[in-house]
Amino acid sequence: MATPVSGLVDPDRGYVNPAIYADQAIYEQELELVFGRSWLFLAHGSQLPNRGDFVQTYMGEDPVLVVRQRDGSVKAFLNQCRHRGMRICRSDEGTSKTFTCTYHGWAYDLEGNLINVPLEDRAYRNEIDKSKWGALKVPRVAEYKGFYFGTWSEEAPEFEEYLGDMAYYFDAVVGRWDNGLEFVGGTSKWVIDCNWKFASEQFASDIYHAQSSHASALMALVDNPAYWAGISYQSQTPGRQFGGNGHGAGSFWSEALGGPDPTYGTGDYAAWVAANKDEVFRNVGEDRALRVAGHNTIFPNFSWLGSPATMRVWHPRGPGQIEVWAWTYVPKDAPEEVKADIRLGTQRTFSPAGSFETDDGENWTEIQQVLRGWKARHNTFNAQMGLGHEERDVHGQPGETNDAFSETAARGFYRRWADLMSGLSWSEIAELDAERQATATAVPQEVREV
Ligand code: FES
Ligand SMILES: [Fe+2]
Repeated sequence: MATPVSGLVDPDRGYVNPAIYADQAIYEQELELVFGRSWLFLAHGSQLPNRGDFVQTYMGEDPVLVVRQRDGSVKAFLNQCRHRGMRICRSDEGTSKTFTCTYHGWAYDLEGNLINVPLEDRAYRNEIDKSKWGALKVPRVAEYKGFYFGTWSEEAPEFEEYLGDMAYYFDAVVGRWDNGLEFVGGTSKWVIDCNWKFASEQFASDIYHAQSSHASALMALVDNPAYWAGISYQSQTPGRQFGGNGHGAGSFWSEALGGPDPTYGTGDYAAWVAANKDEVFRNVGEDRALRVAGHNTIFPNFSWLGSPATMRVWHPRGPGQIEVWAWTYVPKDAPEEVKADIRLGTQRTFSPAGSFETDDGENWTEIQQVLRGWKARHNTFNAQMGLGHEERDVHGQPGETNDAFSETAARGFYRRWADLMSGLSWSEIAELDAERQATATAVPQEVREV
């Protein structure tokens, strides 16, 4: 039976009990009820350009192989041999025609079907039915604008429905360029000793930390005192935060596309974006191009930043650890020097040694250490910023939004987490969501216009 979680988070009042970050039983339940039932990021198409190309990734803690098939589609299966459970493939990426388990040599094809068993005649008297002993297949894989997501759940809504209003915010980044995006420079991987929800929730919602946590990084990286002062620029700049279906997005509104972003190395990227702004405006509209990029999470653990250009998965590794897998993304059509500039900017800022990244990790590991205390785990955290000031469909941005400095997305994240952790089915969650939306206070039109 599911551990009751209803007393642990109360999104309507903005309460969070920190046991959810530190309890092993809750973590085990997350693997089953959250990671076992949500749509999880698997790969970007640029990681798998040719048939036979594969990457290994994780769905929660389950290793899966994601493979480009002969027909061009992408399929995924559990990277676990059906004989004794060895990894079928021990490489993280590559190109193959088949996968042969290194323990006793069972071999699987690109779809995960078992195709060869050594000594099948003598050892098994030819009595093994290989069609029954293929790898466990991820039953549903969805492609969205070059991004592949998978779920173990037969019942989860279709991926676009799962995204809901978040599609508008995701498209702002992935739909910006005529020829799409690509990942460059491989996968950066590192470990942070913290619960996965700190990272996911922060990327969904928290711009509030930047002025404290990143003040020194900004001073070190940006040779412009006006900009440091302008950490206060953020406190003066309008911006919005979206929260819906557990996802979150938040941005400050900019006035010009590709204006000098001082966190980048040479300025090539900013200049190129400015020169190509018409393409962006045509694809996503001027308002969206200028107002949506920022920080984002697709529930439960896929996050990105608009600038610097990083996408990542926070793979859970027990209640107190994550493995971050991060990629730099670039417009596919950008010139090489622009792609190099983007990589440089991302490495300097959000990468294992990035100045901002290490600030974030420091906070999360410190919080996790504090949670070793018994009292600390039986406390109540405040997630009330902007509570009751949510609005719907304002400023041309769909869904429930609030000021950029709010915790609307965090509350939505924990609401979806609690729904899933309570064992509600996806159809029960859909009914609940419809009720919540119907009973949310309507904001008069004159209040919406700013
Ligand atoms: S565990 Fe894979 S062949 Fe035995
Ligand atoms: Fe940060």
